[in-house]
Amino acid sequence: MCGIYGYIGKLDAYDEVFKGLKLLQYRGYDSCGIAYYDNGIKTIKAVGPLNNLKKPKILCNLAFGHTRWATNGEVNLFNTHPHSSFDNKFFVVHNGIINNASELKNTILKDVPFSSQTDTEVVVNLLSVLKGDIDERVKSLFNYLTGSYALIIGYDDTIYVLKKFSPINILKNDKGIYISSDIASLESGELCQLKDYSIFKIKDNDIINLSDVKADFVPYVNDIEKLNLGNFSHFMQKEIYETPAAIRSTYNNIKNINFYDCVKNIKKITLVGCGTAYHSCLIGCELFKELGYEVDCVLASNLIVNGRVGRNHLHIIVSQSGETADCIKIAEQIKKQRGKILVITNEPKSTITKFANKIITTKANKEIAVASTKTYSCQVFTFAYFCHKLKDANYHLDIETFEKNLKDYISNIDISTLAEMLKNKDKMIMIAKDIDYLTILEASLKIREIDYVYTLPMYSGELKHGTLSLVDSDSIVLSLNTDNDKSKLNNAINEIESRGGSVVKMENYILAENIDNFYKTIYSIIPFQLLSYEIAIKKQLNPDMPRNLAKSVTVE
Ligand code: F6R
Repeated sequence: MCGIYGYIGKLDAYDEVFKGLKLLQYRGYDSCGIAYYDNGIKTIKAVGPLNNLKKPKILCNLAFGHTRWATNGEVNLFNTHPHSSFDNKFFVVHNGIINNASELKNTILKDVPFSSQTDTEVVVNLLSVLKGDIDERVKSLFNYLTGSYALIIGYDDTIYVLKKFSPINILKNDKGIYISSDIASLESGELCQLKDYSIFKIKDNDIINLSDVKADFVPYVNDIEKLNLGNFSHFMQKEIYETPAAIRSTYNNIKNINFYDCVKNIKKITLVGCGTAYHSCLIGCELFKELGYEVDCVLASNLIVNGRVGRNHLHIIVSQSGETADCIKIAEQIKKQRGKILVITNEPKSTITKFANKIITTKANKEIAVASTKTYSCQVFTFAYFCHKLKDANYHLDIETFEKNLKDYISNIDISTLAEMLKNKDKMIMIAKDIDYLTILEASLKIREIDYVYTLPMYSGELKHGTLSLVDSDSIVLSLNTDNDKSKLNNAINEIESRGGSVVKMENYILAENIDNFYKTIYSIIPFQLLSYEIAIKKQLNPDMPRNLAKSVTVE
């Protein structure tokens, strides 16, 4: 997690870094800070989002900064990056985790004063304690620090960039040299995606490779639409409404894939993901099962790759960002066992793709809001289209009609009254059966993460086996039944209503008919996504930046 961004060049470096960090805030926004060169390196920090920073009254040509998602140490100014060494000579911003920080503090750094609770501070103190040439000291960091790290280190008017396992990129163009933990935040130019154990020294216009690791600068064009809300109030809202267009772009990108080839000679499929991506895997799992495949679905953080992975066993890893540490770890293990990996991601240049035998890119365009919405629908769409093609190689989708119908459907959903009714509830039960149960798993995650409401998704038939004891006249239960048999949940609903609980039938908000079974869950999730958004607005919460969370979870 955490975003890091740096700049050296002819423009005002503070402004360039501030703009870059704005694009990285989705990685964490607990606190932030910028180091800048003004006859020596100085820092400016704030708790909360970037707008809390007070711009210094100088122009500078070198700066680097950080937007933090707290892992080691609470959210306060002491723990906010950039960190400086005890003698104020070295400065650092860091994404990742230094695993042996305590060990270093108890040994080589035992006499050094520390001012934060972070693991990061060891980097700069170590550099100050080591003796000799500065380049050599920086190079030796790989020998001392275990764990994962992308680092920008500042020493006087020089920047060092190091990478071990956490992503970081350098880009040069006619404006200067940019460094960022996320390619999408960079402009067009010559791009180098650093490989593990790379070290670069940047001073003025020079980028010097201090390691033996090969570095390629290749032309890069950023055609990603930058932060632009248009007529929307929040990115989450904008992104839900972008779903039809995102699906259309995804379709255009995947329509010519030979899906049969992807599963040729495959006897077993395991779908892997985290959070929302895991929920889209659950839907994929059902669809593959319907076609008769032996398939299972596992949370990346729960998967143990034991021994050799069979040649006929395909792992499909789904990750919007392609940077989720739990997924990368699994991909690494499968790769070591020479297993086959198909990655479905929205970021074709992301770390996870390096382990893939095949990549399918969802083309949802950048998702800024922390909660996944349009990318979830694109993942589900990809599975649905994939399975349609496996079922019938001649399957044709009229994408124009599909997009239009979905667009009309979304624009006709009015969930505001329901949001008003639910805004003061701090608990909700959700019930469903079959594939609808998978939808309420995702729906309940959205309401938990955006609205801070305890939600309990349940199979409706399970209610009477224990959980019914929670129900009283204060209870609100959201039910979902998109089956043709409208009476499927009646028993559970009667049991709730007999105890005074209220039931909201969410299918009443799904005003679309004759939806292809494979695509049905794309329709059913949207009222829930909009509901979680609307409740947040009514509770005056920021739906784009829910507390304690970050968009890319790059730590295990
Ligand atoms: C929830 C959400 C998360 C992510 C999860 C995996 O709205 O977005 O649960 O789905 O952190 O992220 P990716 O897909 O980037 O691997």
